[in-house]
Amino acid sequence: MDSRTTLPPQDRPYSKLAKYYDLLGWSDFTLRLMPHLTAFFRAIGGLPDEFLDIACGTGVLTNILSANGVRVTGIDISPQMIRAAKSKQYLTKPKFHVGDMRTFDLGQTFPVTGCFYDALNHLSSEMDLLAAFSKAASHTEKGGYYIFDVLTPIGLKHWKPYWAQKSGHYLVCQRGHFNSANKTRVVHIEAFVKTGLRSEHVEEVLTETAFEIDVVKQLLARAGFRKLVLKPFVRYKTLASAGRLVFICRK
Ligand SMILES: C[S@@+](CC[C@H](N)C(=O)[O-])C[C@H]1O[C@@H](n2cnc3c(N)ncnc32)[C@H](O)[C@@H]1O
Repeated sequence: MDSRTTLPPQDRPYSKLAKYYDLLGWSDFTLRLMPHLTAFFRAIGGLPDEFLDIACGTGVLTNILSANGVRVTGIDISPQMIRAAKSKQYLTKPKFHVGDMRTFDLGQTFPVTGCFYDALNHLSSEMDLLAAFSKAASHTEKGGYYIFDVLTPIGLKHWKPYWAQKSGHYLVCQRGHFNSANKTRVVHIEAFVKTGLRSEHVEEVLTETAFEIDVVKQLLARAGFRKLVLKPFVRYKTLASAGRLVFICRK
């Protein structure tokens, strides 16, 4: 197992960012994802009764699905992200678990399983990706679906090397370096957040890995997914030029 996710909980990625994740704008990704999800749910005949959100983060998607009556289970490796998810109000009562997407076992299957916002790029090897796909498969009903997004090698390479955003309450900056030899990007995130009279300085270092699309397809087949639809993420026109892809798989 790789060292990024076998770290003690307080040192895992997102441990410090968790409390400010939504405030700093990362929750917006789910809004960008919605056209894909809406089209997907329409294509499969409507919202499922249950949904497993793997790497659920702060529960942004859980909240939207729950508001539409879906019973959601969320798992995430970060206890701090799960704590932030649990602190929200939901219409249906979601279940949240701290767990590693490569090893978790809920002893249950779901009609639809999802994993979003390049959560799979947080894994560092093809072996880990296969483990994550196998766990997604063992938690998906026969005939059920697994939907996820991934950053492609193009997407990870062309991620802005430096980025900053400011509001009345915070300043957040990211700087990253892409290593083309192993297709990884190390991203340093630094934020200054003002809450009331106090201000806090938060720093995190995340590493993301890009996987070749043919490899992703092969690993999905090995994990037991048989049918596949592949789409460029909303702002891209073609699969070949896409920095992010959405995969829809059927078990
Ligand atoms: C960019 S966030 C996305 C969170 C959420 N899916 C969203 O759309 O806002 C990536 C998430 O992946 C989680 N994560 C990273 N490695 C993981 C692993 N091995 N198992 C489960 N969760 C993991 C992180 O803790 C983090 O919450």
